[in-house]
Amino acid sequence: MKIRRLDDTGDPAYPAWYAAHEAGYGHDFPGGPRWLEHELQVYFERSDAFDVALWLAEDDDGAVVGAAAVVMPLLDNRTLGEVDLAVRPEARRRGIGTALLRALEDEAVRRGRTRFMADIEGPLGPQESPGTAFAERHGYTRRITEISRVQRPPFDLDALARLERDAAAHATDYRIVTWRDRVPDEHVAEYARMTARMSTDAPLGELDYEQESWDPARVRMREARMARMRRHAWCAAAVAPDGTFAGQTAIVLAADDDSTGMQGETIVDPRHRGHRLGLLLKIANLRTLLRDRPGVRTVWTWNADSNTYMIAVNEQLGYVPAGWLAGYQRDV
Ligand SMILES: CC(C)(COP(=O)(O)OP(=O)(O)OC[C@H]1O[C@@H](n2cnc3c(N)ncnc32)[C@H](O)[C@@H]1OP(=O)(O)O)[C@@H](O)C(=O)NCCC(=O)NCCS
Repeated sequence: MKIRRLDDTGDPAYPAWYAAHEAGYGHDFPGGPRWLEHELQVYFERSDAFDVALWLAEDDDGAVVGAAAVVMPLLDNRTLGEVDLAVRPEARRRGIGTALLRALEDEAVRRGRTRFMADIEGPLGPQESPGTAFAERHGYTRRITEISRVQRPPFDLDALARLERDAAAHATDYRIVTWRDRVPDEHVAEYARMTARMSTDAPLGELDYEQESWDPARVRMREARMARMRRHAWCAAAVAPDGTFAGQTAIVLAADDDSTGMQGETIVDPRHRGHRLGLLLKIANLRTLLRDRPGVRTVWTWNADSNTYMIAVNEQLGYVPAGWLAGYQRDV
């Protein structure tokens, strides 16, 4: 077995890296949310916001049996390394995962990273897996557990309209705006402010994560990256009477594939809570998504158990539990 560094996701070995990555993650969460090959290629690209290093593991006959990456934020969380690592099911328990993890941790420590985090996901049932056993074996501790929920067709638009009518009576001072892909110029500063807040307002459990640093330039950088991924983002925001954002939400979906929508980034500013804005934002956003993409097959979302308000909103919208996500951390 050989561990080999990839220059970047433009490396000719990237398709084999991706295939091993998907075989590993897909095996432990069949039917779970999946990234397409060209999406992960951009996700693991180096940029002004993230440094990334990638490795693959090759068997003696040259077959790629494992894939790993560490993502190192550059604009905030500058001591963090985000670990991503998978081994093909038929090649497990031979130390390949351990060798990949050692390579990526050593490199990240050389670059000043002292906190490592890994997200591990699985289907409904026991919240344990080869990934959690492996992480614990290597000194990682579980700092948060979230439940993933999924929404599938048929989407009951009439029921949503009824919910929306009832909720709107509690939010008469707010205006809901929606857009796709590019935040309108007049809102980009507010959008950046709320996105920074979002990074630490959502429950983090015991994870040591510092607030992300966002400004309009970074928002535009992320939009450009999303376009390179060939993904679209449907977004909604609640505008308060003074023009500031009271809340926002987004759903992301591949431009040419209906299989996996991802609902995230929902935040309501604490000063504006109690007006059902979470529900109103999500309904407005889902409606525009369905108008543009009526064939969408799943929309996924993740919530910590403690986030009871957001879970109640999601259940009203028809989301049902589908699995778990455990956030692990190790400090060196
Ligand atoms: C997690 C994963 C990468 C482990 O790869 P691997 O090559 O089998 O790992 P190793 O052989 O180096 O295992 C090292 C140790 O981890 C523990 N471990 C790994 N898999 C385990 C399992 N299924 N059950 C119990 N312990 C396990 C054991 O202590 C093992 O040592 P041992 O085999 O001497 O008992 C692999 O199972 C995988 O790809 N899972 C899906 C992706 C994932 O969850 N990634 C998150 C990684 S942080």
